[in-house]
Amino acid sequence: MLRSLIWLEEVSSTQEVAKRFLVGTVVVANRQTSGRGRLGRHWHSPEGGLYLSFSIPVGIKDESTLPLVVAHSVASYLKALGFMPAIKWVNDLYVGGKKVCGVLTERLRDRIVIGVGINLNQESFPKDLEAISLRMLSGKTFDKVSFLLELLEFIERDIEKLNAFGFVAFKQAIEDRLLFKDSEVILYTPEPVVGILKGISEEGSLLLLTQEGLKSFSVGDLTLRAL
Ligand code: BTN
Repeated sequence: MLRSLIWLEEVSSTQEVAKRFLVGTVVVANRQTSGRGRLGRHWHSPEGGLYLSFSIPVGIKDESTLPLVVAHSVASYLKALGFMPAIKWVNDLYVGGKKVCGVLTERLRDRIVIGVGINLNQESFPKDLEAISLRMLSGKTFDKVSFLLELLEFIERDIEKLNAFGFVAFKQAIEDRLLFKDSEVILYTPEPVVGILKGISEEGSLLLLTQEGLKSFSVGDLTLRAL
């Protein structure tokens, strides 16, 4: 599925560059000047992080669950490296309460562009970002090339599994890693909805136990409700 690799020093966003190349081309950059996140947010992309994007053709089974599935792939790889990542629905990974990874998927007419940003070797972050790198967590500096190649194997395997068996093959494993599970949260839809996070549905939607009962949400921005 992933056939070639282009590694660039600096780009605006690997998402934009990946759109100009064939499906199956992985675009990696050492820095992004306009790294993008979900909901139009900026993705802080200095030297030291790993920033990659690639496209797959449209038509994959349970396509809308790709952000969760790819976040799960990264989580599985980080777990294999000895970290304990949690998935913050729908597309981020946290370790020890701080963000280490974000996944962005964008659907075009004929392809889906999948982007992954990993806080890998950075030595510090602006305080307001509540981010941390794998290097800050472990004291180790990671070899970017081998990290990337091993990570791509996890991602590729999971995308093939999603296409073969659908999201049902991931639901339990993702629920087991869900950040804020059984805690009181606020989901901004953008209207705030308060509830206890109970899990995810077979469609990858978030299940909240609200005052009106169990409700499912396919979009929103999640935070822990302050005590
Ligand atoms: C998020 O947390 O909202 C998703 C962040 C995704 C960031 C990655 S870095 C590689 C790719 N290029 C971008 O501009 N964004 C994604």
